[in-house]
Amino acid sequence: MATSTITLDSTNDHDLLTITPSAGLAVQGQIRVPGDKSISHRALMLGALAQGETQIQGLLLGEDPRSTAACFRAMGATISELNSELVTVQGVGLGQLQEPVDVLDAGNSGTTMRLMLGLLASQPRRFFTVTGDASLRSRPMKRVIHPLQQMGAEIWCRAGGYAPLAVQGQTLKPIHFHSPIASAQVKSCVLLAGLLTEGQTTVTEPALSRDHSERMLRAFGANITVDPETCSATVTGPAQLYGQTVIVPGDISSAAFWLVAAAIVPDSELLIENVGVNPTRTGILEALARMSADVTLENERTVAGEPVADLRVRSSQLQACTIEGDLIPRLIDEIPILAVAATMAQGTTVIRDAAELRVKESDRLAVMAAQLTRLGAKVTELPDGLEITGGAPLTGAAVDSHTDHRIAMSLAIAALAASGTTTIQRAEAAAISYPDFTTTLAQVCQS
Ligand code: S3P
Repeated sequence: MATSTITLDSTNDHDLLTITPSAGLAVQGQIRVPGDKSISHRALMLGALAQGETQIQGLLLGEDPRSTAACFRAMGATISELNSELVTVQGVGLGQLQEPVDVLDAGNSGTTMRLMLGLLASQPRRFFTVTGDASLRSRPMKRVIHPLQQMGAEIWCRAGGYAPLAVQGQTLKPIHFHSPIASAQVKSCVLLAGLLTEGQTTVTEPALSRDHSERMLRAFGANITVDPETCSATVTGPAQLYGQTVIVPGDISSAAFWLVAAAIVPDSELLIENVGVNPTRTGILEALARMSADVTLENERTVAGEPVADLRVRSSQLQACTIEGDLIPRLIDEIPILAVAATMAQGTTVIRDAAELRVKESDRLAVMAAQLTRLGAKVTELPDGLEITGGAPLTGAAVDSHTDHRIAMSLAIAALAASGTTTIQRAEAAAISYPDFTTTLAQVCQS
């Protein structure tokens, strides 16, 4: 029987990933996924703000954390090379970020730009300019600029609220911000601005978004309280942060690609070790359970304040389901790969309340609808979601990541369930959150 082939060709700064699954393909083995992206950013930032040394184990060595590290180095923090999963940070002390002599570049990373903005806006007497790549410069920043302006921040942006941004740091005043969207980036931005602000800064959101900032701020010594009932978090400033040891669990958003791969490719079984299962992130597990996927959590434990487990997944016939409401913020980054799962489910899967996907690294609703349609899937784009009728056979085709890491990887998994050859253009985008994605793909694709 022919074996599957997976090849990566680099030309003109772009990678073309070519995947031809064999008829007998199964996804098998025991793997680990890279460190959680959200926790990696926060560990670098809080380490840079703390007094003393922070040691980070398991840091994601992807492009996004490299952008965060570069920005904070430019403001005086000493951060070891990001070439080993053990990274040390010598912090400057809260309020002591230096004025950078050049523009801060957040690259492709919305988390870097939005969280950092809260810190910059609250550093009195310092001036900062911030930019990012073409994708980031087209993503909305008013959502963080407005609450910071309510706190007294001075921020300039392009018309419409886009980067490049300029910030004149100020002493801010505390607010109670009622965020119109459930966004951990907005919440974290305001809470970080509250660290140097005297009094209580509170954020209330319409549904609970990931709470890594709250957990890590507490571990670094900030006075922070949360009220899960009202989806509120309060920081009391001025705070002082002290260097810590942070152990970063594997990223459930990266594990999601393998969960779906093993779920949809017949005769598969995969063990994914050391995955973060913080309840604000496990919406993907709930959605897959609703779809009758066979996923079990083993060896559940708590590591450095974050819940962690090994995930075992076996293939099964998936069923369609509806994904909407408060579940959306808990699986916001997993919707592209859930759309792939839906193409293999019996019935019509409906994803709603997910208009936020239009302002991620790409318009993920439009891009996934177009790319899955190229592969033969039955997809209808809704204003705030997707409707996918499973069961249409997928056929290999030329598809494109639109430079979005999660699209690149989702399409690679879809290719495993397609007959013939799929080529994924601009596949290098995967390195934003998963530099070894193709290596692991080849490793788990047996025969
Ligand atoms: C993130 C929050 C989410 C998520 C992003 C990372 C974070 O964005 O999509 O990949 O680390 O805070 P929003 O908070 O804007 O939904």
